[in-house]
Amino acid sequence: MRYLTFALTKGRLAYKTLELLEGMGITCQEMKDKNSRKLIFVNEEKKLKFFLAKGPDVPTYVEYGAADIGIVGKDTIMEEGRKIYEVLDLGFGACRMCICGPESAGEYLRHNQLIRVATKYPAIAKDYFYNKKNQTVEIIKLNGSIELAPIVGLSEVIVDIVETGSTLRENGLQVLEEICPLSARMVVNPVSMRMENGRITELIRNMKQMVTAAQG
Ligand code: PRP
Repeated sequence: MRYLTFALTKGRLAYKTLELLEGMGITCQEMKDKNSRKLIFVNEEKKLKFFLAKGPDVPTYVEYGAADIGIVGKDTIMEEGRKIYEVLDLGFGACRMCICGPESAGEYLRHNQLIRVATKYPAIAKDYFYNKKNQTVEIIKLNGSIELAPIVGLSEVIVDIVETGSTLRENGLQVLEEICPLSARMVVNPVSMRMENGRITELIRNMKQMVTAAQG
C-alpha cells in the first residue's frame, strides 16, 4: 500500500485538522512538537504522511500530486484557481470575504466609481468587481495588515477576511458588502481521487462524520 500524503495549512488550521484526525484515530504525535524542525511526519500504521505548508502553496502541492489531499481555506482555493477537487467543508476557520472601508466609501460602491481596492486577494477582488458588480476598479496587491490601506489613503476600500470584525471596529472601518462565506476545506488531487478512490472516499466519509458530530 502506498502512502497517502496530506498538505496542511501551517498554523491554526493545522491544529484544528490534527484534532479532527485524532478523533478519527489518526495520530501524529511528533507533529505537535512546536520545537521540531521536521517538515514531514509519518503514520506508519495507516500509511499516511503529513507536511505543513503556507496556505497559498497547499493547492499547488495538491494540483501537482506532491500531496494527494490538502486542507486549506476557501479563500486560498478561490484565489489560487488550481485544478483540484474540493470535496468537503470542514466547518472550522469560518469567516467571510468582504469589501470593507469607512462608511463614506459605501457611496463609491453604489455608484460604480473607479476606486482603488487594496487586497491580499487580487483574483477574488477582480472577479467580484468585474464579473459580479460590473465595476471597473484599480486593484492594489498587499501582503498583510490590509486595514491600513484606507486609513493612510492608499485605497478607498479593501477586500479582506472578516472573522470577529474587531480589526475593522478598532480602526473605524466596517463591512460594506459581503462577497462570500469562508471556512477550511478538504481538497484532493484529481488523479489521486481516481487511483486511490476507496481510501480517499473512506477518509472523506469519516471526516464528514467528525465534522457533523462537532457541529452537534
Ligand atoms: C486577518 C484579516 C483581518 C483579520 C480579521 O488578518 O486579514 O486583518 O484577520 O479578523 P477579525 O475580524 O477577527 O479582526 P491576519 O491576522 O491573518 O493577518 P494579516 O493582516 O497579516 O493578513
